[in-house]
Amino acid sequence: MKVVESIEDLRMERKGLAYPVGFVPTMGYLHEGHLSLVHRARVECGSVIVSIYVNPTQFGPWEDLAKYPRDLQRDLRLLEAEGVDLIWTPSDETMYPDGYQTWVEVEKITKVLEGAIREGHFRGVATVVSKLFNATLPEKAYFGQKDAQQAVVIRRMTRDLNFPIEIVVCPTVREPDGLAMSSRNIYLNPEERKAAVILSQGLLKAVEAFKNGEDEAAQLRKAVIETIASESKVNVQYISCADPDTLQEQEGKVNRALISLAAMVGKTRLIDNVILE
Ligand code: PAJ
Repeated sequence: MKVVESIEDLRMERKGLAYPVGFVPTMGYLHEGHLSLVHRARVECGSVIVSIYVNPTQFGPWEDLAKYPRDLQRDLRLLEAEGVDLIWTPSDETMYPDGYQTWVEVEKITKVLEGAIREGHFRGVATVVSKLFNATLPEKAYFGQKDAQQAVVIRRMTRDLNFPIEIVVCPTVREPDGLAMSSRNIYLNPEERKAAVILSQGLLKAVEAFKNGEDEAAQLRKAVIETIASESKVNVQYISCADPDTLQEQEGKVNRALISLAAMVGKTRLIDNVILE
């Protein structure tokens, strides 16, 4: 496994990699969710590149950039064990050189849900992922369903900008009690950690209702809202029943739906979602 920092070294090493090249972009502090993407890439591709870069431009001024958890040595051990070929850990100077002024803006689908609360977040994500794609030139790139809107935005951007890359979206990996794995779960104290399980339980209520024939958007949202309301430590920011492709909020009967939510558990902001189809 090679670990490179400069873009020149990355390009050099990229030349020798077996086809097809699979790419997994991450911000590090890896858990089983990230590793599931790496594993899938390992199975489907001739070689695997992973990037580790905490991208400052996707964090808002009041968000957790400064205290975002990092442990590069541990990440490298985990990736070595997964059989990754090449790790890229670019510096801020490489990604955003002095005088930087070029941005990738995906329009409509970034204005709702996470985009409505985290202004500028998806501009940062789309820009950094474009730059990572341009540098690593993969045939396939792997993203998690955990960040449902991010996956939709990246698919749209890949089509719109004609990146010759297949986007693969992998299922959300959960803790045994159902909590979606996230690097931010480490911020939760033991009581908050216990309370946070209500989020996935709420989503499961919508899954059950849908299985039992409930197809009214308002009722599906209500099933989640009522479950989560029973946990006073959890403050919901939104609970949405949206079209999985356009991300527009749905009303009336639905065939397919992305049920997604964001909530504060103490000072920690968590997101989760399920797809009904
Ligand atoms: P990060 O939060 O490190 O996540 C990297 C990838 O792992 C994303 O595609 C994310 O959806 C996926 N992932 C996270 N938790 C998961 C889980 N529990 N199950 C399955 N997949 C999971 O997402 C980012 O970084 C950044 O926005 C990035 C794309 C790297 C751009 O900076």
